[in-house]
Amino acid sequence: MKNNTFVIVGTQWGDEGKGKIIDVLSPKADYIVRFQGGNNAGHTVVVNDEKFILHLLPSGIINSDGKCIIGAGVVVDIEVLLDEMEKLEKRGKNMDNLFIDERTHIIMPYHIEIDKAKEEAMGENKIGTTQRGIGPCYIDKIARNGIRIGDLLDSERFRDKLEWNVKEKNDMLTRYGKPVFDFDELYDRFIKLGEKIKHRIIDGVVEINEAIEDEKTVLFEGAQALMLDIDYGTYPYVTSSSPTAGGVTVGTGVSPKKINRILGVMKAYTTRVGEGPFPTELNDETGEKLRTVGHEYGATTGRPRRCGWLDLVIGRYAALIDGLTDIVLTKLDVLTGFEKIKVAVGYEINGKIYNSYPGNFRKSENLKIIYEELDGWKEDITQIKNYDDLPENCKKYVEYIEKKLKCNVSMISVGPERSQNIYRYDLIDKVKIK
Ligand code: GDP
Ligand code: IMO
Ligand code: MG
Repeated sequence: MKNNTFVIVGTQWGDEGKGKIIDVLSPKADYIVRFQGGNNAGHTVVVNDEKFILHLLPSGIINSDGKCIIGAGVVVDIEVLLDEMEKLEKRGKNMDNLFIDERTHIIMPYHIEIDKAKEEAMGENKIGTTQRGIGPCYIDKIARNGIRIGDLLDSERFRDKLEWNVKEKNDMLTRYGKPVFDFDELYDRFIKLGEKIKHRIIDGVVEINEAIEDEKTVLFEGAQALMLDIDYGTYPYVTSSSPTAGGVTVGTGVSPKKINRILGVMKAYTTRVGEGPFPTELNDETGEKLRTVGHEYGATTGRPRRCGWLDLVIGRYAALIDGLTDIVLTKLDVLTGFEKIKVAVGYEINGKIYNSYPGNFRKSENLKIIYEELDGWKEDITQIKNYDDLPENCKKYVEYIEKKLKCNVSMISVGPERSQNIYRYDLIDKVKIK
């Protein structure tokens, strides 16, 4: 097997540190490809205390001279994209290697207003979305009303599609009691935006598949995570795309048989932003400590993240659905100083034991979580580079996860900086990354 394609996905509710891991691996890559989601993502890269937060651009743009592609399954807010590019250019980053698949759907301004209006109207039942228009844009895609980036290259086709959409969305916004959009203003605005990006529009399917055939190293950068997956997550408290490893094939046009390694990024504890079930959530001092020490505030919306212990029921679910070949364990340093560390290993719901996340789990009332408790460690681990130098109890925690999930923890992140990593199982050296 060529071993040149790597998928990096989140295994919890997002914000596991995917951006950092992509940044670390990206100098070894010829291509870094986003395959789903949009600017609901917030991927943080920290280099010598300088912080970059990527929303739409693949995180490889910071540390790689490879090609960065926004794949077909992504939804793109072009104004956000241009703004993000401009800000990074001002910080010395080169955007020449950025390309967008012609099939990506455009997040239009009416999508954002509908997202907001719907959340407001739902009141207590709201999803707690990032209000970036993600859901309404994917709705249009599935309903076959969507406008794709490639449509901007044909002004007549764009006009036809926009006419229908403005009419439909204005009706909808009127029902919500919100202001409506002016067709001419939107048309002119998007034709101009199309001019600005047209040289970056490509057929990503051909480009990426040819790269794989040529044995180039390709990293597929997931946004969000398994538990936010439209099918397998905590529906309806999910996002509207498929952030699982399977999402790579639908979101890029690359066959599953071409995927070699699937790296699941797993935070050493759990966080979640927005509404919805979170079995191991801690609404106490321990949860507060995780939030404070882990700086758990959303990279996109700034909302405080809900915090709790690691949940291996979800870990097992991720190992199954994503078919993980490796785990990248992040934020292990945040657990330093906890006397005891708990890990969920099973759920008991109405007397029945579950080892994998149940499909129809809605309310926590009848849920009893089966925890196991491990001893903590006190030593600072943020500067450690060799696995053997970690405190014994810290190694026990890592190996406990490996054993429970039957999957190697191939890399451990012990701080936000690019350099704060421990490599195991030769992820970088033996595996052929360029
Ligand atoms: P992503 O959405 O999965 O890319 O993750 P985010 O960037 O939203 O959130 C992860 C946060 O944790 C960011 O602030 C990172 O800088 C930070 N981070 C990543 N890895 C580590 C780590 O190993 N230790 C600590 N303390 N922080 C980390
Ligand atoms: P990264 O890539 C954490 C959450 C939102 C909300 C739900 C639906 O940084 O890990 P949406 O705007 O997508 O319709 O919101 O999904 N959400 C995220 N939570 N990290 C993310 O991305 C997220 N992207 C969306 O908070 O609960
Ligand atoms: Mg994030």
